[in-house]
Formats: sequence, structure tokens, C-alpha cells
Amino acid sequence: MRFILAVSTDGKISIGGKLPWNIPHDLKWFKMNTYGDTIIMGRKTWDSIGKRALRGRTNIVVSRHKVPGVKTITNIDDVREYKNAWIIGGAELCKQLWKKDDILLLTRVHMTVGNGLSINLPEMNELWSKDFDSHTFSINIIK
Ligand SMILES: NC(=O)c1ccc[n+]([C@@H]2O[C@H](COP(=O)([O-])OP(=O)(O)OC[C@H]3O[C@@H](n4cnc5c(N)ncnc54)[C@H](OP(=O)(O)O)[C@@H]3O)[C@@H](O)[C@H]2O)c1
Repeated sequence: MRFILAVSTDGKISIGGKLPWNIPHDLKWFKMNTYGDTIIMGRKTWDSIGKRALRGRTNIVVSRHKVPGVKTITNIDDVREYKNAWIIGGAELCKQLWKKDDILLLTRVHMTVGNGLSINLPEMNELWSKDFDSHTFSINIIK
């Protein structure tokens, strides 16, 4: 499967239910990679994007209950049927799903967030990396 995330230097992905940063070129990177595809997210991530589908993509939410207005997966094992989908977060969903040989597109945001939501990134091999404007974009394969 494929994952796409952005993480701060101190390992945080959000604060107060929102992204800790506003980085237009990271949003463009996200859109460029996911546009036209299926994106799968945890229910809290769905809440964080305003409970509205991201345009130009098939949106699917993982929850233990049917989520109004969007296709919902209630059994996490069913996620892997969507082999070409992007898992877009959050931390709770990712940690249950990533496994060896999965792809992780990771933006490292070179800032410290402090008291936010942490993610434990998997061990990975870096395939490609580019620094741009205080961020590092990289494509990794999970070890
Ligand atoms: N920086 C980034 O790249 C990035 C990316 C995405 C999200 N985020 C941030 O991450 C935050 C949300 O992340 P999070 O880790 O708190 O939550 P999350 O992973 O987005 O969602 C957690 C929810 O997913 C559902 N879920 C998880 N495991 C499940 C399972 N095994 N079976 C069925 N449903 C399951 C549950 O929904 P129910 O409670 O409805 O059952 C659970 O409460 C947001 O603040 C968002 O801004 C950041």
C-alpha cells in the first residue's frame, strides 16, 4: 500500500486536531500524488478536513460506525483490498496498517511543534529525497 504524510522534526503530525503548519507547496505535492486515486483515512482525519470529500479523489473513511456522507470501511482488514489507494493518516490508522515493502511518501517539516499528536514512523529505506524551502520530500520503502 501507499502512505502519504507530513511530520515535524519532533515527530508530530497535528495539534488541536489540525495540521500544525500551512505549507501550500506540501498541499500541492499531496494533491499531485493523490489526484484521481482513492484515498483512505481514519475518521478523525475525516473530521479534521471538515467532513468533506477531497475533490477529484474517491474518499473512504475507516470507522467502527457508518460515517454519514462518505463510503465507510468498518473492518480494517478490508483496507488492503484497495491495493492502489493512498492511506493519508492519521497516526492511529497508519500504525495498524503499514508493513514491510509498503511505500511512504514523507514530508519532513523542519519545525518543532511541541505538544501535538505524535506518530511512530516505521523503519524505512529512502529511495528519493529532495529539500525544498525548509522541508524534505522523500519517497521511502518500509523495512
Ligand atoms: N501531518 C499529516 O500528514 C496528517 C495526515 C493525516 C491526519 N493528520 C492529523 O491527524 C489527526 C488524526 O489522527 P488520529 O491518529 O488521531 O486519528 P485517525 O487515525 O485519523 O482516526 C482514528 C479513527 O479511525 C477509526 N479507526 C482506527 N482504527 C480502526 C479499526 N481498527 N477499525 C475501525 N475503525 C478504526 C476510529 O474511528 P471511530 O472512532 O469513528 O470508530 C478511530 O477513532 C488529525 O488531527 C489530523 O489533522 C495529519
